[in-house]
Amino acid sequence: MSQGGLLVVRGLSVAFKTQKGTVQAIDGIDLDLNENETLAIVGESGCGKSVLGHAIMRLLDDIAVVRGSVLFRDKEVYEMETTALLNLRGGLISLVPQSPSSSFNPVIKIGKQIEELIEKAGKEKGIGARKRAVEYLSMAGFSQPEQIYESYPHRLSGGMCERALIAMALSVEPELVIADEPTKGLDALSRKNILGMLHKLAKDASMIMITHDLKAAETCGRIAVMYSGEIVEEGPTGIVLNNPRHVYTKGLIDAQPSRGMKPIKGRHNLFSHNALGCRFKERCDAASSECSNHPLLNIVEDCRKVRCCHA
Ligand SMILES: Nc1ncnc2c1ncn2[C@@H]1O[C@H](COP(=O)(O)OP(=O)(O)O)[C@@H](O)[C@H]1O
Ligand SMILES: [Mg+2]
Repeated sequence: MSQGGLLVVRGLSVAFKTQKGTVQAIDGIDLDLNENETLAIVGESGCGKSVLGHAIMRLLDDIAVVRGSVLFRDKEVYEMETTALLNLRGGLISLVPQSPSSSFNPVIKIGKQIEELIEKAGKEKGIGARKRAVEYLSMAGFSQPEQIYESYPHRLSGGMCERALIAMALSVEPELVIADEPTKGLDALSRKNILGMLHKLAKDASMIMITHDLKAAETCGRIAVMYSGEIVEEGPTGIVLNNPRHVYTKGLIDAQPSRGMKPIKGRHNLFSHNALGCRFKERCDAASSECSNHPLLNIVEDCRKVRCCHA
């Protein structure tokens, strides 16, 4: 039965069995994304943002134990055969990966790599694919796109690599873009340019922007705040950031440079969380005896959810 929406994620959990024990990277994630919607996923390093992005595309290592469901246009991603899966990853959903410099093949020119993806996605062939690759490099802000087309990846700076990766991801006209930390390591001006360009190129697509940067998150319509593998607050970005209801969301806002960089006390540690209680309670000034029960992600007002018994 159709559940509607472009992407419907239900109860998605990913565990990695390591020598140190089991890492529950994400745990019971529910998400809905409609066409043309932009969703920011924020949270401290290690909270499971990239694993969630990769799990949506079924791009995890074999050691990952995945539970739950990911429906893309009503089709279960975890039941897709190879052809459908390649079609999903090569065209319908595009990933802008977290590490720009290691995401290109170092021995193939940038343009050729973009061209190959365009051809694999069945969008254009030969000269048409080349033309499209140059066009997307130009749209990504390169004033001499032909020169970038002919460059090997090591010739590009981090910011240029990020732009080329965005051009590549968008050149196949995906229905969903998953951009993982698109502003990481960039100065304020480059950050603003990249975000403007990303939204412009993705104007006909839906987007999940994974970021630790709340300024970047502000450019998305909705926000989901993750802590220790779970979503702890979700809603329209402006409302959540102007009036956070979870202590962790407040902490993330106060930790931003524009708010004085006040650190959140304690450390995020996936191994130490107690699945029976609130995972944030050791770091929370508002914690009480009620927090030894694991809180649900409750609807607190229109379009807004919070996982805290005090919210
Ligand atoms: N392949 C893997 N094997 C073991 N643990 C992993 C693997 N990939 C991710 N993890 C762990 O999962 C947790 C979430 O990682 P990640 O999603 O990359 O965090 P982030 O929010 O910084 O993107 C981390 O503790 C990380 O060490
Ligand atoms: Mg990450």
